[in-house]
Amino acid sequence: MESVLPWAFNRLESPYLEDPYPLYARARREAPVFYSPEYGLWFVTRYDDVWAVLKDTARFSSRFLMRTPADAPAAVREVLQEAYPELPMLVNDDPPSHTRTRNLVSHAFAPRLVAALEPSVRASVTRLVDGFAPDGDADLIARLAYPVPIEIICTLVGLPAEAGDLIKRWTGDLVTLGAPGTDGERQLACARSSVAFQRYLEEQIEARRRAPRDDLLTALINTRAGGERPLDVAELVNLLIVLVFAGHETTTNLIGNLLVLLLGRPEILRAIRDDPALTDDVINEGLRMDAPVQGMFRTTTEEVALGGAHIPAGAQVMVLFGSANRDEAVFSDPDRFDPGRGNNHRHFGFGRGIHACIGASLARMETRIVLDTVAERLPNLKLDAGRPPTYSPSLMHRGPQAVHVAWF
Ligand code: HEM
Repeated sequence: MESVLPWAFNRLESPYLEDPYPLYARARREAPVFYSPEYGLWFVTRYDDVWAVLKDTARFSSRFLMRTPADAPAAVREVLQEAYPELPMLVNDDPPSHTRTRNLVSHAFAPRLVAALEPSVRASVTRLVDGFAPDGDADLIARLAYPVPIEIICTLVGLPAEAGDLIKRWTGDLVTLGAPGTDGERQLACARSSVAFQRYLEEQIEARRRAPRDDLLTALINTRAGGERPLDVAELVNLLIVLVFAGHETTTNLIGNLLVLLLGRPEILRAIRDDPALTDDVINEGLRMDAPVQGMFRTTTEEVALGGAHIPAGAQVMVLFGSANRDEAVFSDPDRFDPGRGNNHRHFGFGRGIHACIGASLARMETRIVLDTVAERLPNLKLDAGRPPTYSPSLMHRGPQAVHVAWF
């Protein structure tokens, strides 16, 4: 087995940007764990190896800073001093601090709060579909998959739904701030944006302390699971940023990926219209076939032998969920979309192990309501063949930027 590929892992170039799965399949066969000089990353492609990494949190650490720019100019650092420093929080943290925060958040993230959102999700989806259904055509990302998740994550946390656009901008700026290659002037603007976002969250925290409400933010402030000390303001601000980040683009992409899959399979759209109970299997199969989070990063704490390769200590590793989900050792005929395959719930779409997604039930609920509504309200849905979906170049996130459709 090779640990450096004799061919280029050109994942972000056409045609693999649009369809990475043949590239992953070749890696699973020829070099299941390999180093890519293009990205400076080790990729793990087979199901069992991905699972082994997720379980081995001692040798594969989740700690990395996502929003702190490396080598920021002095002016940027000065602005960032007005903000709370980035703290490892859940997704980029390890035990024991991960265990403490996860206990506190799980306690606050009560199923009751999520279930209570169902009427808001239905109202939001109905209002949006009412707004464009008479037109006969639309971009379902811009009109539906994009606005619903941000509105709902705001409602869950307890932030005003009208703040959604502003929060989208702030979170976008945070990604740009930490991204390699952002120029100094843009970094400065994004650093100011980061401070504004944190001030806003601080004000919201203060407001809940003065006047508690029945929302996640109040629950996070008050949570005291298992005798743990409560979260302080810096932790709360960092946690809110992670929740807002994790809670919207991912869901937009799941809805988008499923729309693309279902547009080519009108019989499945008709079947869920007639029996919405099928939607859960369809969603699991969508998460398996085209995961919105294609992979996550880990860092080795020591040298590790895995899948025939030796990964050195301190190496950046990406576990490719998108590849593991198509591993023929687990899923027979893995490139076939088959909601009835029976074991599609074994996908890595929401991760697994101690970092398994905390918002999975919320994301599932939103996606189910969107799909059921689309199946019912937009009959004979057709993709605009002249405008096929395009994808932004990201190793981690995957979802169509637009889905132009018509119906009659
Ligand atoms: C379809 C939508 C979603 C997808 C595909 C998704 C995917 C994932 C994945 C793959 C992980 C594991 C990360 C790892 O192993 O390093 C994860 C963790 C997480 N997700 Fe989600 N997610 C979605 C929606 C949400 C929502 C709606 C929320 C919040 C309301 C959320 C909050 C989180 C958090 C806080 C973690 C970190 C948990 C921990 O480290 O203990 N996610 N998600």
